[in-house]
Amino acid sequence: MKQIDWNSLGFDAYRTRTVVLSHFKDGQWSPVEETETFSFTFDPFAQVFHYAISCFEGLKAFRQKDGRAAIFRPEENAARMARTAEYLGMPCPDKEMFIDMCERCVKGNAEFLPPYGHQASLYLRPLLVGMHPQMQLVPYPEAIFAVICAPAGSYYGAHLKSCAAVIPGNYDRAAPKGSGSYKIGANYAATFKPYKFAHEQGYAELLYLNSSTREYIDEFGSSNFFGIKGNKYITPLSDSVLPSITNKTLQEVAADFGMEVEKRPIRLEELDSFEEVGGCGTAVVITPISHIDIKPVLEAPEVAREFRFCPDGEVGPVSKKLYARITGIQFGELEDTHGWCHYLDV
Ligand code: PLP
Ligand code: COI
Repeated sequence: MKQIDWNSLGFDAYRTRTVVLSHFKDGQWSPVEETETFSFTFDPFAQVFHYAISCFEGLKAFRQKDGRAAIFRPEENAARMARTAEYLGMPCPDKEMFIDMCERCVKGNAEFLPPYGHQASLYLRPLLVGMHPQMQLVPYPEAIFAVICAPAGSYYGAHLKSCAAVIPGNYDRAAPKGSGSYKIGANYAATFKPYKFAHEQGYAELLYLNSSTREYIDEFGSSNFFGIKGNKYITPLSDSVLPSITNKTLQEVAADFGMEVEKRPIRLEELDSFEEVGGCGTAVVITPISHIDIKPVLEAPEVAREFRFCPDGEVGPVSKKLYARITGIQFGELEDTHGWCHYLDV
């Protein structure tokens, strides 16, 4: 195995060793297999190719300060995948099978679990992919459930460094009463084109508004939104955003700090009154946002309005404190008072 530079890991499709998988067919899951073959065989009529019947999860395993290994809140991901699978009419592994396969993935790729001290972790990607060959638009319970992983460092190339976001006036993420709150691949497909234009213009993130009235903040393309105002942690209440496990965790961390937590609709103009804004998610952890531009047409030069929170690259004190607490618990530097770490022998 090539020596990994643990300090310079980004967020990439790094090919590790073991893939853990099971196939649901004829009403049951096949015995779980561990394979080193990084390929699946699908019928070209498979649901996934035509109708995007596929979903995934993202969670992290950490080597902690005392040498133990822990997966962060895997039961939350198991529950969220079950909710997504139900939406897509797919079979889904139960919580025990989901967690067991995540554990096997960490153990089968132990040499890729970053050692403590590098701000890096092993990112697990449980995938549920529709296999059934068909043309009709009807659910059919046949799928592959696989857990793959990759060692991961910082999503944007640096930890806790603020970056710019843009609200694209001519793109939406999710339809009202649509699929926005489910972790389906198709939701991400809709972000590729606006991300391309955003990145070309130096924006790391897209911030989406509610698509029916465009008056309220929904979430970033990769993560949930939070804003800090005085002693308040404020995050959108919307049925079009992914129920983020990191956000749920940060709400509890903020409450532990004695902050008031508000989960409610956030009007766009309220951006003016936030002292700090950030994105939060498993991959990005906390991404402080330095400024947000509104662009009526993403591809055109006009910026209708700018909201500034901090100089580019800098980070507000509350975001810093929240980041230190969540990563401190994940790396076993701080006591896990909520029981969020799922320990395993590896
Ligand atoms: N929102 C979107 C669109 C995401 O892709 C993610 C990432 O998983 C999140 C929010 C954050 O969710 P979590 O904290 O569970 O990773
Ligand atoms: C995660 O944070 O786990 C994600 O899935 C986000 C990714 C799509 C950028």
